[in-house]
Amino acid sequence: RYEITQRETVAEILPGLRTPLWTYGGTFPGPTIEARRGRPVTVTHRNELPVPTVVHLHGGRTPAESDGYPTDLVLPTGWSPGEGHGPGGTGGMDGMGGMGGMDGGEGMADPRAVTTTLTRDYTFPNDQRPAMLWYHDHRMDFTAPAIWRGLAGLYFVRDDAEEALGLPSGPRELPLMIADRAFAADGSLIYPSLDPTLRERPGVTEPYTAGVLADVILVNGAPWPVHEVDTARHRLRLLNGSNARHYELELVCDDGRRLDLVQIGADQGLLTTAVTHRTLPIAPAERYDVVVDFTDVPVGTLVRVRNRLGSGRTRDVLAFRVARRATSDDSRVPAVLSTDLPGWNREDAVRVRDFAFRAGRMNGGHGWLIGGRAFSPSRTDVTVGLDDVEVWRFVADVHHPVHLHLVGFRVLSRGGGKPPLPHDAGLKDTVSLRPGESVEVITRFDGYRGRYLFHCHNAEHEDMGMMANLEVV
Ligand code: C2O
Ligand code: CU
Ligand code: CU
Repeated sequence: RYEITQRETVAEILPGLRTPLWTYGGTFPGPTIEARRGRPVTVTHRNELPVPTVVHLHGGRTPAESDGYPTDLVLPTGWSPGEGHGPGGTGGMDGMGGMGGMDGGEGMADPRAVTTTLTRDYTFPNDQRPAMLWYHDHRMDFTAPAIWRGLAGLYFVRDDAEEALGLPSGPRELPLMIADRAFAADGSLIYPSLDPTLRERPGVTEPYTAGVLADVILVNGAPWPVHEVDTARHRLRLLNGSNARHYELELVCDDGRRLDLVQIGADQGLLTTAVTHRTLPIAPAERYDVVVDFTDVPVGTLVRVRNRLGSGRTRDVLAFRVARRATSDDSRVPAVLSTDLPGWNREDAVRVRDFAFRAGRMNGGHGWLIGGRAFSPSRTDVTVGLDDVEVWRFVADVHHPVHLHLVGFRVLSRGGGKPPLPHDAGLKDTVSLRPGESVEVITRFDGYRGRYLFHCHNAEHEDMGMMANLEVV
């Protein structure tokens, strides 16, 4: 049982500067939740922020009532339901929002769809494979600016079987939430929809529509941290918690040597066998579980984690300083990591569905659409039968990391029937569609009936309509 108060706080992120944040429990990232497989956890959220919020456990196999549907609001304490809650009604505090301004106000066209509470218990059964999940805000039209301001945290599901494998653990297991942010000279966060210099640049009317990129890379809330390690294997639990930035990570020692990233897990837990990468692409909301071996790296070496897709200072993400010799390292990466990956085949699928993720017009403005439609809470887009296996085929115009709630899936093909890429291995809940690419995934809609979502996890795209309802019946 956890209790989290969502509240404003001021943190020192850049040296000597004060950054106002919205937080889970006063820190960014929020408190890390540790759960055991099969043992339910209830998290009681109390909202002391000036705006309504919604909490979603990303990657959780969660009953619909605790999944954080975008209109299941936790209202601020002291809020009376009669009050208007447009951006103006919150004393300008919501000024970073405004994605929802596209359709005038908060886009909650159907007030009947809105349910509200003052505190809320979210119950997570944890009846799922061990994995690193994350929780974040999911309010309709305002998810991107809410995450930007700090509403994100990590959540682990663990079990005895995984712990018995002998993977690096304790201080050698490092959760790493990577997220870019932009700062004003006084230390406050800048979100481009607020930044007049961006808004008024000639010819740029909607500079943030592609998704917000920023020039400071934070890892667990700190800019470009340097983490000391000893000469041993380390397990990196990577999350790309950025709104829109993609990374292709590589590890470069200061003598030019590069270290492998040995991938042992995906979004939804361990692979069957490890996959070795020289570079590892990671799209928004994806997680990768990776072992890096510093055993033969000379003490004193700086190992930079770099982003090959970045430029200037966004090329750097964090660094490891090999500070000392390990006295011992009895960790291992077993040849077989797990044996319980679902083995769904194309032949098991009762249906194949197609979804186009493309830009389009939405209420007269720019929107991001699925199958030509922008999100509406009052329409069911897809109805699936409980326990049905389906193949979903996605096609993209530009980069779209596509995420399904409730289920994990496997990537069947890319680029029109070509085999998946090495980093597509395992059970995933978010898949990166590259520009112009089509991707097929297969899943079984098991667990719970109810109303869920699928959407692009470029958070700005999501707020601008690229989300749809999935009803499991
Ligand atoms: Cu990471 Cu619908 O969420
Ligand atoms: Cu999710
Ligand atoms: Cu997108």
